[in-house]
Amino acid sequence: MQRLSFFKTVAKASLTVLAANSLSAFKQPEEQPDIDRLPTHLNPLAPDFDKVRDDFPRVRDEVYMDNASTHPINIYTAAALHRYTEWAKNNVGEPWWPGWTDSRDACKKQFAQLVNADQDEIAFARSTVEAENNILNGMDLKGGNVVTTDLHYSASLYSYKMREMRDGLKVHVIRHNDWRFDVKDFEKVVNKKTKLIAITLVSNVNGFLVTDLRAISDLAHANGAILYVDIIQGVGNVPVDVRAMGIDVAACSTFKWLMGSKGFGFLYVRRDLQDTVVKTTHHNGGVHFNYSPWTDQADPSKPDIDFTPRTGAGIYEVSYPSYEGVICAQAALKYISELGVANIRQYVRTLTKKLSAEMPRLGYPSITPEGNDSPIVVFTVKTPDATMRKLRQANIHVAMRFGNKLRISPSIYNNNSDIEKLLGVLS
Ligand SMILES: Cc1ncc(COP(=O)(O)O)c(C=O)c1O
Repeated sequence: MQRLSFFKTVAKASLTVLAANSLSAFKQPEEQPDIDRLPTHLNPLAPDFDKVRDDFPRVRDEVYMDNASTHPINIYTAAALHRYTEWAKNNVGEPWWPGWTDSRDACKKQFAQLVNADQDEIAFARSTVEAENNILNGMDLKGGNVVTTDLHYSASLYSYKMREMRDGLKVHVIRHNDWRFDVKDFEKVVNKKTKLIAITLVSNVNGFLVTDLRAISDLAHANGAILYVDIIQGVGNVPVDVRAMGIDVAACSTFKWLMGSKGFGFLYVRRDLQDTVVKTTHHNGGVHFNYSPWTDQADPSKPDIDFTPRTGAGIYEVSYPSYEGVICAQAALKYISELGVANIRQYVRTLTKKLSAEMPRLGYPSITPEGNDSPIVVFTVKTPDATMRKLRQANIHVAMRFGNKLRISPSIYNNNSDIEKLLGVLS
């Protein structure tokens, strides 16, 4: 007994120290900007990217160019989140967050506009990979095959391989051809038994942006299959138009190029596929007990227990979503739409172009195809550990993946001097 209380005391003391340490790691909140009035430097006709830099304090202490891992949130999104947490701290309870329904709908509408979908084709998701798994679970894949590529996200490939081993699903993984693939690679393997083509729009491995999505989609449809696209590494920085690209189902989280939070994202399911080709695997809706004492006046035209299903892509949701996720997404989507994805693309392209031109000259060959138009560029290095050490010492934060692949993923707040600094360290 005594021993137990000793351990309890030690555990409590350690937790207190841990909490104090982890809390002190966070700085005081900055002065809060006016989140309802975004600044004029976002003007889509003449965006001022020097000022955009000030919206991301992350850049103050470090050259951060690892946005393909996690993108920082800007000061307006942080302020919106702060306002929400103040509400959660001081006012949570009934009446619940008065703006919730409006926020939920507005957030879906904002995302729908970004990808040219309709609001009722958008569901909230908890993650890209979970959404893709839910889609697979909701499809009748028996006797069919799935075609994907080795540039699809690794956790997704794992899921397909598991289904192959467990359920006998036939999975064809197309191998990239010099770090890219196109519709011709699919034509060789897609057939009438193909139920799904699953690909990643922008590869996290080398930044490869699939350019002939429409042709891949046409091929899928001609064979009775659908096209799923993981858009997490593109949306927000690369134009995504689900209609023009022929995307049937897509998913993403918000913590990369959407500049939002982790554990929250979006799922797009084309309207006519909802609960037909892609069944819901979760159930959520309204239940009404149509008998006494639940109701004073039973309606004889209705069953005793009346179920009201959800409609639209909401059928793929259960439970409350992350309110924090919604808050961040709303603020970030507003910021992105004010700035304009075309402007974002144009600006970030200048940075990646410079890297693509200079890095090979310094002895770092690129594995990103020439002329590729995404925010991610990747180079192979001979001495990965030493290279990363040098970069860290210079306060430059990038990623080293798959052994020797240096991934640089600049964003809207990076500038030419960030690129020069990195090139200087690596030369
Ligand atoms: C291409 C791609 N898909 C999916 C994910 C995982 O995202 P989530 O956490 O939303 O499942 C990542 C994360 O790095 C990624 O790069």
